[in-house]
Amino acid sequence: MFNDTFLKACRGETTDYTPVWIMRQAGRYLPEYQKIRSGRTFLELCRSPELCVEVTLQPVDILNTDAAILFSDILIPMEAMGSPLDFYEGRGPVFSEPVRSQQDLDKLIVPHPLETMGFVMETIKLLRKELKVPLIGFAGAPFTCATYLIEGGSSKVFWETKKMMYTQPEVFHGLMEKITETTILYLSEQAKAGAQALQLFDSWAGVLAPCDFATYALPYAQKILAHLKQYDIPLIYFANNGATLLDQSMTSGADVLGLDWRINIGNAIKRVGKIAVQGNLDPFALLLPEDELKRRIAKLLGDARDAYGHVFNLGHGIHQFTPPERAKFTVDMVHQLSSK
Ligand code: CP3
Repeated sequence: MFNDTFLKACRGETTDYTPVWIMRQAGRYLPEYQKIRSGRTFLELCRSPELCVEVTLQPVDILNTDAAILFSDILIPMEAMGSPLDFYEGRGPVFSEPVRSQQDLDKLIVPHPLETMGFVMETIKLLRKELKVPLIGFAGAPFTCATYLIEGGSSKVFWETKKMMYTQPEVFHGLMEKITETTILYLSEQAKAGAQALQLFDSWAGVLAPCDFATYALPYAQKILAHLKQYDIPLIYFANNGATLLDQSMTSGADVLGLDWRINIGNAIKRVGKIAVQGNLDPFALLLPEDELKRRIAKLLGDARDAYGHVFNLGHGIHQFTPPERAKFTVDMVHQLSSK
């Protein structure tokens, strides 16, 4: 039987228990993932629908999560825009031709999603035949994607990004427009292929001052979410480190707001009113002794009892060295402690 508990919670409907999935639930902490990943590059894996199906299903089967998230990466559409991408062990993603000028921006295209990323839609179609829980599609939010294109990879201080925002605003906004158009087309195709919810990951939104978030990031996320409304599936916006941006995120147009662990979920719920929330256990809390972890989960569920809808999750992606049995324990505890 199909388990739609996750979709119900997103819509603010009553559920028998609190649904749970884990951000980055497919990945290196699972030996089963490591096995499929060995002998090929991460990008090769991302471009192989059959293998993506397998690694998407792994955490659903092993952990018993209430939703699956498509296995891919937020940087796939950036590569399709024409920016050469590679992943290096221990260094993460590298764009060898970072965007620093109008000339660099002019080289990027708004790609046709089916022609350039057909493997993603193929993965979604295959997954829908297998899954008994809802499938979440996703993309990076424009600001987060832009940081990778401008910095040329991961960053801690975002010097180049902020330099472009403040000294070449027209180039920055031009880049955001292109990413936004790309993301609208890409997520629309994911919805048409069968994604049953869509999440925008704004992993770096938290490095922005509230006034800059309002000018340089939020309007683009809003535009994407407004376009996706027509597919009538839950839309989730996750602004990492976003406690200071919550009042603005409420206007994103999302049905569900992802919360990172830095905010008390009960306080967030009082502020967001009739919007469902997703989160927000500190990923490192999975290292606590089991009885303490159990108490943390019970406390979180209690704090979230007045939510319009609550999807349990971690406050950010699971860390690669987390023991898988702790992830399993967490899912089991959420199910057990929230059962009515
Ligand atoms: O299980 C899932 O959640 C689905 C798959 C998924 C991946 N990346 C797989 C992945 C999702 C949803 C993402 C999103 C993603 N990718 C984000 C936003 C979420 C967040 O954590 O904030 C970001 C910022 C990226 C960009 C990215 N991809 C980075 C910085 C890295 C390197 C990380 C590192 O520690 O080396 C990746 C690689 C990546 N994406 C891996 C996986 C499983 C590891 C690749 C490997 O097997 O070596």
